[in-house]
Amino acid sequence: MIKRHIAKWNRAAAGLESVGVGVERRYGHLKRELFGKAQGETLLVAAGTGLDFQHLSKGLRVTAVDFSPVMLSYAKPRAKEYRGTLRLVRGDIQRLSFRDASFDSIVTACTFCSIPDPLLGLRELHRVIKPGGRLLMFEHVRAGNSLLGFFMDVMTPFSGYFGPDMNRRTRETVQQAGFAIEREFNIYLDVVKMFECVKNPL
Ligand SMILES: C[S@@+](CC[C@H](N)C(=O)[O-])C[C@H]1O[C@@H](n2cnc3c(N)ncnc32)[C@H](O)[C@@H]1O
Repeated sequence: MIKRHIAKWNRAAAGLESVGVGVERRYGHLKRELFGKAQGETLLVAAGTGLDFQHLSKGLRVTAVDFSPVMLSYAKPRAKEYRGTLRLVRGDIQRLSFRDASFDSIVTACTFCSIPDPLLGLRELHRVIKPGGRLLMFEHVRAGNSLLGFFMDVMTPFSGYFGPDMNRRTRETVQQAGFAIEREFNIYLDVVKMFECVKNPL
């Protein structure tokens, strides 16, 4: 099953590279502000083509994970430009190979619209982040408005065939996985959002 998802994101890499430039122009300054809060041992999921590396503060130890080899081939030259330590790891966010409590910060951008099982992925992030560690997220989610939300439900089988799902309820899933949302910002309507979360004590 995962092979099908990897193949989809391999095909989407060239498109993401061009769409990503527009996203960066519009939202790059907000991502920089959010991701600038990452400290110490930092996990970035999912790396995609590496457009988000530029938003991390200098001097961190970053591990960037993605399961698509084509995405990672785009990300490689950007990883070399990062002024700190940045290693690229090919892996599935739903089954991370890292030990419990290994990261001080975790950063995500347009990730939980894309992970096949978002709850499984967020539970893995909860496992590998240290107690008190910060999860910093830039994500698009299902709209709260019933008409727009319904439209997103209808569109998701099509959008999900080529790329991300449009109707993910990421706010709820983050809480279900054991994180407390400390701050939440609406960037575009209540669809594009930033979340600052902390790992709840067990
Ligand atoms: C919409 S793209 C976003 C990429 C990047 N974060 C950005 O904002 O440009 C979604 C990314 O998630 C990756 N992905 C989806 N499911 C994954 C999984 N289970 N494990 C690792 N990477 C995954 C895809 O390969 C793709 O690079």
